[in-house]
Amino acid sequence: MPSSADTEVVLTVNGARVRLVTDPTRPLLSVLREELGLVGSRFGCGLEQCGACMVLIDGEPEFSCAREVATLAGREVVTIEGLGGLAGPGGGLHPLQQALLDEQAGQCGYCLSGLMISGAALLSRNPRPSRQEILAALDRHLCRCGVHNRVVRAVQRAGAAMAGAGTPA
Ligand code: FES
Ligand code: FES
Repeated sequence: MPSSADTEVVLTVNGARVRLVTDPTRPLLSVLREELGLVGSRFGCGLEQCGACMVLIDGEPEFSCAREVATLAGREVVTIEGLGGLAGPGGGLHPLQQALLDEQAGQCGYCLSGLMISGAALLSRNPRPSRQEILAALDRHLCRCGVHNRVVRAVQRAGAAMAGAGTPA
């Protein structure tokens, strides 16, 4: 139910302008999942400690579970649902999404959307990262199933595919 404390917040989510009237202190993750139906970003800890909720904010991977939505006014948010749109015209799967499938990296899958966000952000600025650079980029993510090595290989595979296809970095 709307409250007198609600505030208008206008931001961009996956390329679309979104206008919300909501509690300004509400976490971005809650707005994404409950208002916009974008449930690919996951709630893990709610304490910015596991990475399950990671999204891109102005191109940088950021936690969304404790980020107050009012701080996102005028900013550009990309969730896992919009990641394919960064791969080039036509959308489809981002090369990293395809590479994760090819490496069979998923177990329960709970961590994967967050990992893909951070991996894609790395590849956008460095399409041929070293193993150490990949580990550093994924450092804020927990995976209780232990798929890290497969995810590292997927990032390397995606980088090679993007370089080979001439996909914009
Ligand atoms: S749910 Fe945001 S970091 Fe864990
Ligand atoms: S695949 Fe299960 S938590 Fe990562």
